[in-house]
Amino acid sequence: MNSSSPLPHPLCYHAPVPFDPISRRSFLSLAAATALTTASPAQEAGANPLSTQHGKLPYQEETRAKRIAWWQQARFGMFIHYGLYSIVGQQEWVLESEGIPIPQYEILAQHFHPKPGFAREWAAQAKRAGQKYMVLTAKHHEGFCLWDTKLTNYNSMAASGVDVVKEFVSAARAEGLRVGLYYSLMDWHHPDGIKCEADPAARVRFVDYTHALIRELLTNYGKIDILWYDVDKPLTTEQWRAGAMNKMVFDLQPGILVNNRNGLDGDFGTPEHTIKAESRPWESCDTLNLGWGYQRSDDEWKSPRRIVDDLTICCQQGGNYLLNIGPEPDGTVPPETVRILDTVGAWLSRNGESIYATEGGASASFGNYTNFTRRGKTLYIHVYFWPSETPAAQWLPFFQPPTVLAIGGVRAKVLSARVLKTGAPVTFTQDAISLRLTGLPTTAPDSPTTVIACECDQPPTVDHHAIRPEWPRFKAGT
Ligand code: GLC
Repeated sequence: MNSSSPLPHPLCYHAPVPFDPISRRSFLSLAAATALTTASPAQEAGANPLSTQHGKLPYQEETRAKRIAWWQQARFGMFIHYGLYSIVGQQEWVLESEGIPIPQYEILAQHFHPKPGFAREWAAQAKRAGQKYMVLTAKHHEGFCLWDTKLTNYNSMAASGVDVVKEFVSAARAEGLRVGLYYSLMDWHHPDGIKCEADPAARVRFVDYTHALIRELLTNYGKIDILWYDVDKPLTTEQWRAGAMNKMVFDLQPGILVNNRNGLDGDFGTPEHTIKAESRPWESCDTLNLGWGYQRSDDEWKSPRRIVDDLTICCQQGGNYLLNIGPEPDGTVPPETVRILDTVGAWLSRNGESIYATEGGASASFGNYTNFTRRGKTLYIHVYFWPSETPAAQWLPFFQPPTVLAIGGVRAKVLSARVLKTGAPVTFTQDAISLRLTGLPTTAPDSPTTVIACECDQPPTVDHHAIRPEWPRFKAGT
């Protein structure tokens, strides 16, 4: 399989998300196309010797394996989009996409009232969902800071007396969850946020401001496990002084992970709205309905099975899954979100060993109703459409005794098999071509998917396609 192409989604119930951030980013570039002057590269580089286009910080490279070990075991995290846009309830791009005048949008700050205990509700929800870390939008593109910053009054403490980041960090820690902060470099509110592209003096001010905000976040809230940058418009990597930015981040938080959205490679890739394996650590981020920020009328919820399946496909390909929630204006987790996440969490409480700390590489292909994960010598077969009893069983011995679950191309000898939920042993036969699990119940033993764990004689892989040349073939009519 070509690891650079997006994987087909076997449970793709929805059309692609009708939301194209790129076109909106292009809009910003257009707005900034009034650029008259820009600082010369020499000027930028001269100011910041650490800023190289794809420079690798030695510290970051040398320590990555150790820093990232917990994250690769965790596999499943909660993304939280929360800000002033939540009050409007029309997604987090509402300021830009509806063209709201800034002085009007600012009025929302007076109506930002996270309810007592909002962050504990998020953390408890993440815990019940089986998620191991949480990433909160500390500052989204709207520019409103969800912490007690000394650098702008446009913040949640000044607005409502609530340091959202502080409550978030302490609630996550209390549940034993790791903590991530999302930070949007792009800023629609700050007077220099767009001007900085064309105006060198504005750029110095804005980049200094950006570095200082990040410094505050990574200084005042104890240990932070992930810094999740977003949208580096409208500046270049050099202009953001991204190398110096990451150097500061690692000086302040030596154990942290950073993503790749400040223009540098970072520690992990961030495919969005797609599951796209990379040749390095990666995390697919996606929404539970269509938007990231709360949208009152968005009822395009993914089913619990779709979520379990996406999580499984990420694990099959060796990646993480960061699943978003968009809390209501006061921080309440929407009821439908609770229902879906609780179902996923209940499934994980029975099937977690087939997800957490799995190693990737079980299979590059998909069955018609199965995905695969593995750990050590155990192969986990994830069945999302239970085969039940086929009418073909009356003529084909292959499907007897019913119900048969058959997997072509298992590259390991299976020693034993069991239903993960119940531990009930499963009988099977195996030859060079097919593993046949037989005599299974007619209805699926678990929901939304059933996992069968197979102990093998070596680390297993499944390749439906590679076995074809080995099959005995017969010409038609012979
Ligand atoms: C995009 C969007 C943004 C969202 C992010 C999550 O960059 O602009 O609204 O926060 O994706 O990955």
